[in-house]
Amino acid sequence: MDLFDKLKELHEEGLNQINKAKDEKTLNDVRVELVGRKGELTKILHSMREVAPENRREVGQKVNELRDLFNAQLDEAKEKIVKAVLAKKLEDEKIDVTLPGREAHLGSKHPINIILDDLESYFIGMGYRVVQGPEIETDHYCFEMMNIPKDHPARDMQATFYIDSEDLLRTQTSGDQARVLEKHDFSKGPLKMVGPGKVYRRDDDDATHSHQFMQMEGLVVDKNITMSDLKGTLEMISKHVFGQDRETRLRPSYFPFTEPSVEMDVSCFNCDGKGCPICKYTGWIEVLGAGMVHPNVLENAGIDSTVYGGFAFGVGLDRFAILKYGIDDIRDFYTNDVRFLEQFRKEER
Ligand code: PHE
Repeated sequence: MDLFDKLKELHEEGLNQINKAKDEKTLNDVRVELVGRKGELTKILHSMREVAPENRREVGQKVNELRDLFNAQLDEAKEKIVKAVLAKKLEDEKIDVTLPGREAHLGSKHPINIILDDLESYFIGMGYRVVQGPEIETDHYCFEMMNIPKDHPARDMQATFYIDSEDLLRTQTSGDQARVLEKHDFSKGPLKMVGPGKVYRRDDDDATHSHQFMQMEGLVVDKNITMSDLKGTLEMISKHVFGQDRETRLRPSYFPFTEPSVEMDVSCFNCDGKGCPICKYTGWIEVLGAGMVHPNVLENAGIDSTVYGGFAFGVGLDRFAILKYGIDDIRDFYTNDVRFLEQFRKEER
C-alpha cells in the first residue's frame, strides 16, 4: 500500500479510535499507539527510506500534520472524559437538600428556673450576691446557728430526712445565712445576699405539699437597717413578680431566727382583692416569711448585735410559680412531663 493511502487510513482509523475511547486508560493506549515513540506515526517516519526522495517532504509534512491533529483530538477527548467522570461523580454523590431536616428538640426552661433566674438578676441588680449552701446540711447550721436548739418546738414543723444525728437534708435555706454571716467582713461593706436552693421536709406529697421544694433566702445586715427597709424590699419583690398593681401587707408571725417576724400577703391578682377561690375569699395570698434578724443569730456568728442588725426573708419559689402561673398541682414541677414544661416556653427570657 502506498504510504499516502496508509496515512489516509491511519487518519480515519485514528480519529475513530479516539472517539471510541470512553475512559482515560483506553484513551492513553490509543495515544501510545498513534503518537507514541513506537506508535504508528513513528513507524511511518521510520519507513521513509521506502519513499521516493521527491515525496519525502510531503510525507513528512503529512505525518506532522496528522500528529498535531491526533494530539489536539486526544487532548479534547481527554477533557471530555475528565468532565464526564466528574459529572458522574457529582451525580452519584448528590445530596437532596430538599429533604426535610431532622428537627432538633430544644427543651424549655423549668417554670421554677424562670422565676429563679429572673429573681436572681433582679437582686444582683440591687447589689446582692448569690450564694449557694449545701443541700446536705448540718444540724449546726440548719438549726443551732439559727436559734433553734435541739429541744425547740419549732423543729417539729421542720421534720426532715436525717442522714445521721448531725447531717440532714436541709429543711430551709436559712442555714446559708449563718454560713455567710460567719465569713462576712463588714469593713468591706454591708452584707446583702440571696441563697436559692432545694430544701426538704418529711411531707406526704399531694397537690400542695412536696417533700422537696425550692426556697430563696434573703439576708441584709448592716448598721441602721430598719423594718421599713424590709417592707420596701418585700414590696419591690412582690411588684416585680406579681405586677405593679399588687398591694402588700405584713402580718405578725413567728420564726425562731427573726424578731419581729412577719408573713407577707399580696392582694389577689385574680380578683384584685374582692375575694375568689384562689385567695379563699380573703382577697389576700400569703407569699413569704420574713423578719428582722434575731440578735442571737448575729451573736452566734460572732457579730455584735448592738452595732449590727438586719432583715431576712425566705421565698418559696414553687409557691411563687404556682401563684404566678396558676398551677394547681405542685407535683407537676417534679414529674418532668414535657407537655407541662413546654407551656412555659413563652415565659422564658
Ligand atoms: N426559713 C423560713 C421557712 O422555711 C422562712 C424564713 C426565712 C422566714 C427567713 C424568715 C426569714 O419557713
